[in-house]
Amino acid sequence: MKVEPMGDWKRTHTCGDLRESDIGAEVCLMGWVNRSRDHGGVIFVDMRDRYGLTQAVFDPGAAGDVFPVGESLRNEFVVAVKGKVRRRPEGMENPKLATGMIEVLVGEVKILSVSEPPPIMVSEEGAEDERVRLRYRYLDLRRPRMQRNIIFRSNVNRIIRDYFFERGFLEIDTPVLSKSTPEGARDFLVPSRLNPGMFYALPQSPQLFKQTLMASGFDKYFQIVKCYRDEDLRADRQPEHTQIDLELSFVTEEDIYALIEGLVSSVFEGALGEKLETPFPRFSYEEVMLKYAIDKPDLRFPLEITDVTEVIRGSDFKVFEGVIAGGGVIRGIRAPGGGKSLSRKQIDDLIAFTQKLGSTGMAWMRVTETGLESNIVKYFNEEKQKALIAAFGAQPGDLLTFLAGQLTDLLPILAQTRVEIARVMEMPPLKKFSFCWVTEFPLFEWDPKEKRWSPMHHMFSMPRDCDLDRLETHTGEILGRLYDLVLNGVELGSGSLRIHDPVLQKRVFNIIGMTDEQAEDRFGFLLEAFRHGAPPHGGIALGIDRLLTAMLGETSIRDVITFPKTQAGTCLLTGAPSTVDRLALKEAGVQIIKQRAVGEAPATPASNDEV
Ligand code: AMO
Repeated sequence: MKVEPMGDWKRTHTCGDLRESDIGAEVCLMGWVNRSRDHGGVIFVDMRDRYGLTQAVFDPGAAGDVFPVGESLRNEFVVAVKGKVRRRPEGMENPKLATGMIEVLVGEVKILSVSEPPPIMVSEEGAEDERVRLRYRYLDLRRPRMQRNIIFRSNVNRIIRDYFFERGFLEIDTPVLSKSTPEGARDFLVPSRLNPGMFYALPQSPQLFKQTLMASGFDKYFQIVKCYRDEDLRADRQPEHTQIDLELSFVTEEDIYALIEGLVSSVFEGALGEKLETPFPRFSYEEVMLKYAIDKPDLRFPLEITDVTEVIRGSDFKVFEGVIAGGGVIRGIRAPGGGKSLSRKQIDDLIAFTQKLGSTGMAWMRVTETGLESNIVKYFNEEKQKALIAAFGAQPGDLLTFLAGQLTDLLPILAQTRVEIARVMEMPPLKKFSFCWVTEFPLFEWDPKEKRWSPMHHMFSMPRDCDLDRLETHTGEILGRLYDLVLNGVELGSGSLRIHDPVLQKRVFNIIGMTDEQAEDRFGFLLEAFRHGAPPHGGIALGIDRLLTAMLGETSIRDVITFPKTQAGTCLLTGAPSTVDRLALKEAGVQIIKQRAVGEAPATPASNDEV
């Protein structure tokens, strides 16, 4: 097998270019061997590149060593062929392939590089462990689905940039070696050799820099930016993720909503050809928590939650009365048509589902033409039964489900049960992509562990004007000028109007337990910038990885990231993180006090079934 230099050969077409109109042309193609087949002495080689596949034909009668070289080709070899485009013989066309009407009869061939037998098949979507895909990422990335995803990602980046440039935004990059930022996760730290004992923190987001940019007069900023967070990883989290980050001066919430709805619409239309309906529905935090029990509701399914505590209070059903007496609530979900379509077994499975989540059980009633039916209906008098039907807006054929408990325990169970009911009932989604805004979040939440207030989003968000006088006295009731963008039950983005008054900013720092000295130490530069004329401003950041996962209908965020990390934060391709040599540590002034032993699992627990 002779590997030859490319020499003066020039690629004339990609492997996705040639059509019937090219028949007769002399061409030069370069690409990978996707597959080769020996058909009775003639070798057919599918050549692949990111543009497509073209069939190259090696005829035994070809001049020189063309045929033996054709015979020696194996999967993933890189080859160059020169030859003539011809129509495929009748019956051999492949209408599924853009190049499927033609083939190239090879006149000259060069093997540009050979491949060891590939550990994963590129031409087939493999069922192999994801670890193998990540280990041999360059092969996995050659596969059509991954090529599509990465190309899609690039297209989306271009659309985002075009959108902002057309609107007068500046793309400004911000430092990666930075100081601790306030997103609430742990920082990744980088030791400073020049300043022994000192560390940079990798930015969890460019929050402080983009606000500083507003103080610098760059009133429309955006950046497609990597953010680093050392947090426990979940299915939709990566230690480094990418945000579309933006900040604007002299704006209100409405400006941000319109800008982002326009951006998302352009991206969906441009990359998917999907038209979105705008404006997106908006909900206050209070409303979503009541109706959907979660601040990122999946609105593809029309199921809603109803609080029926007051309707039920005073019934003969001891279980519910006990919960109410203990300060708990009863909330229910109406499953339209579920009274008819769901079997007893399915209802029992739903009950078991809620119990697994920690409920003490789930009560239920079927709605019939004549009233309510189930083994607990007898505890509710006629008046209460009517009131229940009215509270749910129930129709004959519906199923009513009830969960009882302390509100904070109940919310996650309700939220998941709502989605589970939709799943069990095989409810068709109302829309493929269901967006909404959630606004009016509380500015602070009580941290029972730390026994102090902490910011619900981050500490730079503006309270409503009407709350400015009561921040310290009614801390738990203060609503912030915060907004989240939600898509199909996933938090896609978060933002807020910001505080630009240093005095107000200090009050917020104090409320969350930061002394003036601590505030100066961590964020002094921002406070100082605010003291030198800062404009009112606000912004938002959207998670691009999550956006792409939803757009592409992928289930794993890792499938839209070129080189992702595992749940344990490792890169199986490069082997990062890794040890460094003693000299490098010494120069950085770092001493290791605990080291992972060879073969020991990483400190972050990775569940067995997730990469
Ligand atoms: P936030 O922390 O809410 O806000 O992040 C914004 C969006 O980034 C995405 N995201 C992630 N995606 C993947 N893996 C992660 N670990 C991860 N963490 C966050 C989410 C999230 O909605 N500076 C503020 C924004 C602002 O106020 O302007 C910020 O970073 O989609």
